[in-house]
This record gives sequence, structure tokens and C-alpha cells, in this order.
Amino acid sequence: MELFNENSKLASVILKDHSLLPVINRLGIQLGFGDKTIRDICAEKGIDLNFFVETINVFHYEAYFPEKRLLDFPVSMVIDYLIKTHRYYIDYLIPENDRLIELFLLASPDESTDNGLVRKFYAKFKEKFVIHINFEEREMFPYILELNAVITNPEIRNQFTKKYPDFSITSFEKEHSQMDDKMDDLKNIIIKYLPPNYDQNRGNSFLANLFMFEKDLKNHSRIEDHILIPKVKQLEKLLESHE
Ligand SMILES: [Fe+2]
Ligand SMILES: [Fe+2]
Repeated sequence: MELFNENSKLASVILKDHSLLPVINRLGIQLGFGDKTIRDICAEKGIDLNFFVETINVFHYEAYFPEKRLLDFPVSMVIDYLIKTHRYYIDYLIPENDRLIELFLLASPDESTDNGLVRKFYAKFKEKFVIHINFEEREMFPYILELNAVITNPEIRNQFTKKYPDFSITSFEKEHSQMDDKMDDLKNIIIKYLPPNYDQNRGNSFLANLFMFEKDLKNHSRIEDHILIPKVKQLEKLLESHE
């Protein structure tokens, strides 16, 4: 698998892998970049070049995980990117899935119990997904940003340890498996058990969107588990050693 680098033209990157479109949007780039290279575009837009290249490669090639290089990025930059991804899911992908699943189910000849079952599994996935995102944004990310602030400003250390006596990310770590399991259940029920008279084109278009969501979400979770968490553990060790 070919990896991209700072000399790659962004247009040819997108032609090779169009699933990177929402990723470059989140990183601050819209279409219309002509023949410019990644290096030129990042310089123009003030985007961190290494973070950009590593992130698109992580998405492009599943076996690629440059954990050591990614650990060099400031934690606030990683969190900013993760929150933008959450917004993309909440503001766009979920409403788009809502729309496509309804088009699909309404086009099925009879409003059968199967439709109800698909809706139920979809609702279960969404519920776990929203709980997960809210937990990260309301509890885990604020803890990490506060930890990061103490490292640069030791004066607020007492305030921080009062609020988080254990100051350990392990008490915040939530597995992604619950959310992933609900996604698997939903895909399974649709692929294995739908009656043959459902509307195939609408079904395919809903599934295509769902698979895209799944792929994006998997890569998002990889960044959290393999970049963010190890980075936080590093910061915690640093704080401990200053005791
Ligand atoms: Fe997340
Ligand atoms: Fe997550």
C-alpha cells in the first residue's frame, strides 16, 4: 500500500482514496486546491504538516500506525481534531443515516415487523454512540486538557489534584466495543435476515452510508486508543515524577 507524503498532490490523493474527503475537511481544507502539494496547502492554511500527513495515512492504510511520530503532537491538537470528527458524525452522518434508513424502510412493500426490528437495532446503536461521544466530550477530554494545562502551569496543580485525586486516565477509559457491537448487530440483521422483497437500491444506499460511517468511526477510535490515551499516560507519568 502506497503511503502519502508532503510532496503528494492533494488532488491525486483524493483521486486515489475519496474516503479521505471528510478527513481533509475536518483538518481545515475544502476542494479547489488545483495541483498544489500537501506541503503548500498546509503552509497556506496554517495546518500542522506532520499531523495532516499522519492522519490521512492512518485513514488510508489500516495497518499503518505511526504511534511514535503521532505522540509528538500536542494533545490539544488531537482533541480538536477528534471533536471536529464528533461534530461531523452528529451534524451530518447520523442525520444522513436517519434519512436513508427511513427511505429504505418506507420503500419496503409492507410495514412489517422486520422494519420495526431494523429500527430498533438502529436506535440501539445510536443510543450507545451518543452516550459514548457525550462521555468523551463532557468528562474525558476536559480531564485531558486540564492535565495538559497543569504540565505547562504547575501553579494550578493543587486545584487539579483536588478535582482528580487519582489523576489516571484508566478511570475514564471506556471501551469502544459496546458501540462496535451494536453496529455489528445492525449490519448483521440487515444483511442476514431481511426478507427478499425489501427495496434493494434503497437498502444498498443505506448500507453504503453505514459502512462509510463504520470505517470512519473505526479510524477515529484507533486515534483515541493508540494516540490520545498513550499520550495522556505519558503526561500522567510526567506529573507523577514532579511530585
Ligand atoms: Fe470520539
Ligand atoms: Fe471514542
